[in-house]
Formats: sequence, C-alpha cells, structure tokens
Amino acid sequence: MRTIAVVAQKGGQGKTTSVVNIAACLAGQGRRVLVLDCDTQANATYVLLRGESPRRPAMAEVLSGDASADDAIVPTTFKGVDLIAAEPSLADVNVSLAGEVGRERRLRSAMADMGREYDVCLLDTGPTRSLLTTNVLNFAAEVVVPISPGVFGVLGLTQLQADMGAVRKFLENKALTLAGVFLVMMERTTVCRDFERGIRDQLGGLVLETTVPRIVAFEEANARQRSIFDHAPKSPGAVAFKALTREVMSRGHGKEKRDARRNLPIDDAAA
Ligand SMILES: Nc1ncnc2c1ncn2[C@@H]1O[C@H](COP(=O)(O)OP(=O)(O)OP(=O)(O)O)[C@@H](O)[C@H]1O
Ligand SMILES: [Mg+2]
Repeated sequence: MRTIAVVAQKGGQGKTTSVVNIAACLAGQGRRVLVLDCDTQANATYVLLRGESPRRPAMAEVLSGDASADDAIVPTTFKGVDLIAAEPSLADVNVSLAGEVGRERRLRSAMADMGREYDVCLLDTGPTRSLLTTNVLNFAAEVVVPISPGVFGVLGLTQLQADMGAVRKFLENKALTLAGVFLVMMERTTVCRDFERGIRDQLGGLVLETTVPRIVAFEEANARQRSIFDHAPKSPGAVAFKALTREVMSRGHGKEKRDARRNLPIDDAAA
C-alpha cells in the first residue's frame, strides 16, 4: 500500500482539494483508496460524505486507542474511496493525547494492525504543526506539498522539511520522503510565471511538471461535494489532476516496498 500525505504548513494551499481529487482519480482507475482525514476542520470528510455527519468511531477514537482502524473505516459517496473521518472531537485529541504514552505513534500503530487492503492511502492534514500532523509524518512514506504562488507557502515548506527531519531522527519513520512539490492555483500572470520559474530554479526536480490552474470549478465542485471529474470532467482542472495523479504515482514507483499485510515499511515489518 502506498501511503501519501498531502502536507503544507500554510492554510488554504489546496491540500484537501488535492486529496479529494487524487483519490477520485485513482478510484476511477480501479484502485482501492483509503483517505485518512487528519485535519480537525474535517473538510475532506465533508466532501467525501457529501455533508453527512460521520458516524463514530472515527479518527479521534483511532488515535486515542478506543477503536481500531478497521472499525472506523466507512465507505464514502466517491465510488472506490473509503474514509476514516474527522469530526469535531478530533480537535480535542491534540490536547488529550499530549501526556499519553506513544502519542506520536498512534496512527502508525493503528494502521499496522489494519486488516483491510488498499492500494493507496491518502492523508489530509491541517495547516499547522500539531500532534496530529506529527502522527501523519510518522506513518506516511511519502509527502507531497501543494504550493500556491506566494512567499508564505515557501516558508511553510522550509518548516515542514525541518519537521520531517526531526521525525526521521527521533521517531520510527526513517524512510519518510518528500516526494514532490506541486504548484496549484496558478494563473496566467507574470507574477505566477515568475514564481514558477523561481521555485523550479530553487527546488529543481522536486517540483512536479504538472501545475493546477486556478479555476472556479474547484470551488464549485467542493461546494457540491463532488470531484472535479464529476463536476467538470472536461475542465483544465480535471486534465491537471489526471496528470498530477499520474506523476505522483510514478514518483514513488519502486522506491518503496511495503509489506501489504502489515501496512508497514519492510524494515519495520521485519523487526
Ligand atoms: N485550483 C484551484 N482553483 C480555484 N480554487 C481552488 C483551487 N484549489 C482549491 N481551491 C479553493 O481554495 C480554497 C482552499 O483550498 P483547500 O481547502 O483545498 O486548501 P487546504 O490547504 O486544504 O486548506 P486548509 O489549510 O484550510 O486545510 C477552497 O475554497 C477551495 O475550494
Ligand atoms: Mg484542508
């Protein structure tokens, strides 16, 4: 199982939009997809459950150890996409887990025991550093980072790289990889072109080829709790997410051999 977290330590960068649409694209190709909503805002849950309140147990119970991942998984309105949902009590977990043993390992441990099989697990995250995000970084093998034009997204990337280094050093996820950065909300303006040139110069091959345009169809699709493929299948946004998904999947190809049975990297599984 590929485990790919969409992380950016800045709000409104298109993380949730990316998770939802990559999930929809992969499921449309017949892959079995699990989304873990690890953001207290629960935006991915809102879209994937079409506004329905999630049932419990959900992500909060998984992290607190009161439920297994298998118990918390629910089907979504997106065919082929399952979910462990975020709901309001997830916000309490950052505080309630703060003094608990193994607080940074809860997600990793729960997912190691998961009995169901998926091809890809996508994780949505909140905009700030938190115990939740640390749990994500200590579980996912790959991180991809959406960046919209502007200096603050780049500052967030620097902070994220430092946090990933700390996870590799002090926690278990030694293989945590920054698989790529991709540009979103791009417009045909000089500012955007300059930004793209600058970031490609700075980060080189880390920046994916595909860029996602800023188009109103994304806002409409999210508001209607649909993927861009359902809402505007011929739009440049749908074309971009097909290409982006292909690129994200090909980036990690062969890099990572997972023990599907235990959902752990081979190193851990052998231990
Ligand atoms: N390519 C795009 N073009 C136009 N609007 C977009 C695009 N991508 C996302 N949006 C809109 O921008 C807003 C922020 O996107 P999104 O919620 O995906 O970001 P986020 O990084 O998940 O935010 P947060 O940090 O709050 O979780 C949303 O209203 C979304 O509908
Ligand atoms: Mg979000």
